[in-house]
Amino acid sequence: MLGKIGLIGTGNIGAVLIQEIARRGLARTVAAVDVKEPDVAMGKALDVAEGLPIIGSDVEVIGSRSFDALAGADLIISTAGVPRSKRPDGTIPTREELLTVNLAITESVANAVMEYCPDAIFINVANPLDAIVYTLYKKMNPAKNKLMGMAGQLDSSRYRYFVARAAGVSVENVDAQVLGGHGDTMVPIRSACRIAGLPVTNFISEETLGEIETRTRKAGGEVVGLLGTGSAFVSPAWAGLEMAEAIAFDKKKIIPTCALLEGEFGASGLFVGVPALLGKDGVEKIITFDLTDEEQAAFAHSVSAVQKTVDEVNEMSK
Ligand code: LAC
Repeated sequence: MLGKIGLIGTGNIGAVLIQEIARRGLARTVAAVDVKEPDVAMGKALDVAEGLPIIGSDVEVIGSRSFDALAGADLIISTAGVPRSKRPDGTIPTREELLTVNLAITESVANAVMEYCPDAIFINVANPLDAIVYTLYKKMNPAKNKLMGMAGQLDSSRYRYFVARAAGVSVENVDAQVLGGHGDTMVPIRSACRIAGLPVTNFISEETLGEIETRTRKAGGEVVGLLGTGSAFVSPAWAGLEMAEAIAFDKKKIIPTCALLEGEFGASGLFVGVPALLGKDGVEKIITFDLTDEEQAAFAHSVSAVQKTVDEVNEMSK
């Protein structure tokens, strides 16, 4: 159990995070901050707090509009930013189209963390995921193991779910990884997809797998289209919580994570989704393995898409 988890942003994902941290007992205190008026963070925190006797949790739940509530946090999870939402004309923006507005928000998040909990491990969830993590790195200059983004575990969960349904097996039997950037170029790694330890191609045709992989790449947008307002929030929160749990309980769990690459998988100087071993020190190790030629090319293509958004970040911050 950690001493304190700080949440920045109490939209839909933040609200699930508050209740699940309290339910799972991940920290003695969860402090949720949202600068939005009226007192959204206080309202959502109080709602959970008043239910604590029912779920038998003594976690202290705090909500505030002021960043000083984050003081002394061991772990920060930030969802601060606007989500994707269907436009009035029915089209759906890409995650990259959120860049301008979410960069400004990221600036105040970085300043707050540097002021109130500079040693905290930081998991970013806001989009465009990989570019926001890069921006935080440039602004905060933390040790590289302490900063990461949540996306790969969500994308992998979507892939695993579709594979389990197509194969007619338990989701617990499916192990898979989706790597690369958290955008339409993400790379489901078919060669590492296993059902009960066996190659996925023993169960599902190449054609169906191709369809599943296309659906996986667009899965976030599929939910945005159905919801009408906002984007997926339960599965992203659960994915972030799995990362937080690995850190809080020093599990040494390998989870697809947006982490700083320094040559791994042929990329450098960018935060991109790769398998990472998560424990009490955050990203303790990046796990490399051989991709097929096709997967390696797709990964390189995804890295160049992340680079393009990062170039925009650098251009805007000139
Ligand atoms: C998604 C958002 C959270 O993929 O990026 O649903």
